Amino acid sequence: MRHLMNPLDFTVEELDRLFDLANDIENDMPKYAHACAGKKLATCFYEPSTRTRLSFEAAMLNLGGSVLGFSDANSSSAAKGESVSDTIRIISCYADICAMRHPKEGAPMVAAEKSGIPVINAGDGGHQHPTQTLTDLLTIRSLRGHLDHLTIGLCGDLKFGRTVHSLINALSRYEGMRFIFISPDELRIPDYITEMLRAKDIPYEEVIRLEDKMPELDILYMTRVQKERFFNEEDYIRLKDFYILDRKKMQHAPQDMLVLHPLPRVNEISTDVDDDPRAVYFKQAQYGVYVRMALILTLLQIQP
Ligand code: NCD
Repeated sequence: MRHLMNPLDFTVEELDRLFDLANDIENDMPKYAHACAGKKLATCFYEPSTRTRLSFEAAMLNLGGSVLGFSDANSSSAAKGESVSDTIRIISCYADICAMRHPKEGAPMVAAEKSGIPVINAGDGGHQHPTQTLTDLLTIRSLRGHLDHLTIGLCGDLKFGRTVHSLINALSRYEGMRFIFISPDELRIPDYITEMLRAKDIPYEEVIRLEDKMPELDILYMTRVQKERFFNEEDYIRLKDFYILDRKKMQHAPQDMLVLHPLPRVNEISTDVDDDPRAVYFKQAQYGVYVRMALILTLLQIQP
């Protein structure tokens, strides 16, 4: 039985097959409408979510399956002190597959060890968010046509942003990648990531100003400052509006640069950018449904 904890759990070839399946789903949804009839997805969310939980639920419903679960730790037995290991043993009696989000790094992995059903990490603290990465990769592959030979700028909270950590991990396996990390000093990318890039001889730069680097980018990945992971509110308030991408700054960007954002956005992208054809973050959310449909089929080993 396979789980998904980290984007590296799939080989590059397996990811290619997953994305081919997601594109086929995009082009022919009716073909998949009953693929998961009789199957149940449990969404166990111990942390807030809109897109991830609802896109998982939409994915399972689109496949003809059903969903059950909780969206708040206080409405589950976690509030009574139950461990994730016990909870997943119970969920395994009720559902065929589980998507779990948890504020503690590694909690979905602990659950997977005791689980009778595939567990998908839907975000664990500031650590990893593999299904957002699958969404990001599918968006880039579908709209740029390839995942190699790209210069990608990641901007904002590179310290706490789990989507950033997962995406760099995944992209570091493709040829010709170059990373530009754009953040204030306090929110720099963790050392373990730059060490990994150096060990693999992958070029990267760390800068503070966004405008200077825009002309070089194929992809700009904007992120929200992760309020919930700060220890003190003053630091958050000081840093939260450090970057605001607006129409004026977009004038520095190449005509074919894509702007991605895992969402939710707070102030880091002005709404006047939304109509720019290079702003693809809402399309990205749609790709999130196709890729989660493909993932559910793959982990349940269903071939429609
Ligand atoms: C992200 C997350 O939860 O890490 N959201 C999402 O799943 N699309 C990004 C964020 O919350 O900033």
